[in-house]
Amino acid sequence: MKAVTWQGRQDMQVIDVPDAVVEEPTDVVVEITSTGLCGSDLHLYDPLTPFMTEGDVVGHEPMGIVREVGSAVETLQAGDRVVVPFNISCGSCWMCDRGLFSQCETTQNRDTGTGASLFGYSKLYGQVPGGQAELLRVPFGDALPIKVPHGPTDDRFLFLSDVLPTAWQAVEYADVEDGGTLLVVGAGPIGDMAARIAMHRGLRVIAVDSVRERLARLHGRGAETIDHTEVDGIGDRVRELTDGRGADAVIDAVGMEAHGSPVAETAQKALAFLPKKVQEKLMLNAGSDRLAALMSAIDAVRRGGTISVSGVYGAPTDPLPMFQLFDKQVQIRMGQANVRRWSDDILALLEQEDDVLGVESFATHHLPLEDAPEAYRKFRDKEDGMVKVVFTP
Ligand SMILES: NC(=O)c1ccc[n+]([C@@H]2O[C@H](COP(=O)([O-])OP(=O)(O)OC[C@H]3O[C@@H](n4cnc5c(N)ncnc54)[C@H](O)[C@@H]3O)[C@@H](O)[C@H]2O)c1
Ligand SMILES: [Zn+2]
Ligand SMILES: [Zn+2]
Repeated sequence: MKAVTWQGRQDMQVIDVPDAVVEEPTDVVVEITSTGLCGSDLHLYDPLTPFMTEGDVVGHEPMGIVREVGSAVETLQAGDRVVVPFNISCGSCWMCDRGLFSQCETTQNRDTGTGASLFGYSKLYGQVPGGQAELLRVPFGDALPIKVPHGPTDDRFLFLSDVLPTAWQAVEYADVEDGGTLLVVGAGPIGDMAARIAMHRGLRVIAVDSVRERLARLHGRGAETIDHTEVDGIGDRVRELTDGRGADAVIDAVGMEAHGSPVAETAQKALAFLPKKVQEKLMLNAGSDRLAALMSAIDAVRRGGTISVSGVYGAPTDPLPMFQLFDKQVQIRMGQANVRRWSDDILALLEQEDDVLGVESFATHHLPLEDAPEAYRKFRDKEDGMVKVVFTP
């Protein structure tokens, strides 16, 4: 089968790899019909290089048709249409029972000290072959895949794999009361969808980014927007818009590759010249993230407000302004999305006749899998108006 593989820093290649097959009686194999490219994949493309291995199959936003089921699978059969969550959760352990699917105790990676395994996400998260491929092996066939109806386009359901539950959780964790204001920092796919969900719930949304077409998409749906390259400080601008207080909650939908953190960016780049083993050691013990977006969130949130972090951070020594956080009485919530915690609620919304969140026009590019190497670069560089790419294997 063809698959997108990591072959080195900024080097994705589509190659032939052995077909995915049923290995455990509870597995299913899915023939992938659509599979997303995510901001999280960009972290593998470059900064997380030390944790990648040549040949790793990447991708974690797939959907398709069940081709084969293991002997113990009872609820799915060949021909069923499914979306596959990006985190691999058993559905029945202590964590899964509490809705903390991204901390699943059956797939937690105790050797690396990380949470539930993720599809296509490095040796930090189980080194499980990912979904930017023609076929995908999916464990926990009765608990993990989300069965969706035949009929509507793939894009109607595809974003259940990651973007929708991640954005949904971000808004839930932001916990803004009716009539409140939510600031969304970053208008990539995650920030964009979080803003859509919040507006659907009737909240006032202000979105920040520097990429014009990303802001324009949200402006067109009713958000107020700030181009952060045109204001002196995001916090000051937000306070001007909120009676001097700041936003009731802020979603950080940017993460470790934020623009505007020159020191950490230089350090990240310098790391690339060291041997991989040394890079890995340094990243695990001394690395720091690019924190510009998180710092904006801390500044722009009102006193007693909430910061909901969905952007991925990964460094052990990030310097945080503890006095400001404590004095402002800020609540912070974060984590990988617990996909299965929210997927039934979201599916009910997607099954409505109206496409209330605009998922069918959400992707800006549908491309064959072969175009992945170029798409990764363009998506990172935000060329061609690229906001969300869907590959069609
Ligand atoms: N928590 C989860 O479960 C989960 C799931 C999916 C994605 N993510 C993470 O969410 C983040 C966003 O993902 P995406 O797919 O939208 O990626 P993306 O890279 O397309 O979007 C990030 C956006 O942030 C903007 N940005 C950069 N620096 C900024 C700054 N200082 N201020 C304001 N905006 C800034 C960029 O211009 C870009 O539009 C990534 O870190 C990704 O790894 C987390
Ligand atoms: Zn993703
Ligand atoms: Zn579990």
